[in-house]
Amino acid sequence: MYFNEYVERDPKLKRLIAIVKPLFSAKRFPQHNWEHIARGVKRAISIGETEGADMEIVVPAIIAHDYGHLFTKMGRRHEKIGGKRLAELLRQLGYSDCQTARICHCVETHKPPSVPKTLEAKVVYDADQLERCGFLGVIWNILATVEYGRSIKETLRAKNKYIKALKQGRAFLTDTGRKLGIDGYIKFLEFYEEVRKELDEGKNGVVYILE
Ligand SMILES: [Fe+2]
Ligand SMILES: [Fe+2]
Repeated sequence: MYFNEYVERDPKLKRLIAIVKPLFSAKRFPQHNWEHIARGVKRAISIGETEGADMEIVVPAIIAHDYGHLFTKMGRRHEKIGGKRLAELLRQLGYSDCQTARICHCVETHKPPSVPKTLEAKVVYDADQLERCGFLGVIWNILATVEYGRSIKETLRAKNKYIKALKQGRAFLTDTGRKLGIDGYIKFLEFYEEVRKELDEGKNGVVYILE
């Protein structure tokens, strides 16, 4: 089903978008903007429908998965605060306590090293992980680096949790997500591995001009 159809048949979802979208647009984040959310929505719909997830939970969760970025310093963990702040908003919009808890669990566990417990949260996790795939993923990640004000070394350090997730078999948590993303995810991490090697060589004076 198309995103528009989900929105048309769910007034609460429509109100959630009417609140969240302008907040992200106003921030003008280079990476964590509405386009990032829209890509996530498409992926989450594709994965969630294939996996048989409850889309009444998945769709609002992916829309608000980065809500915490609005309330934290960029580059800090935003999952927990996002869930906490979102719970207040969802209740105001008329979501039940049960729906709120299920949506917020997706938001709080949407990236490594978190371990999502529900199918819906696994779908949201995989949809966001697909942003870290291929060379396009590298470009989006560089935009995030600019947003966070991170150095190259800090960026490389920040990859450790994704490498760990791959080694532990947690790069993707659904069959559909894994099928869509695993090759691209490895390619993405290989790019940063190459950067790491260049910097290590630089330390030995081989390509010192790089630093
Ligand atoms: Fe996020
Ligand atoms: Fe995200």
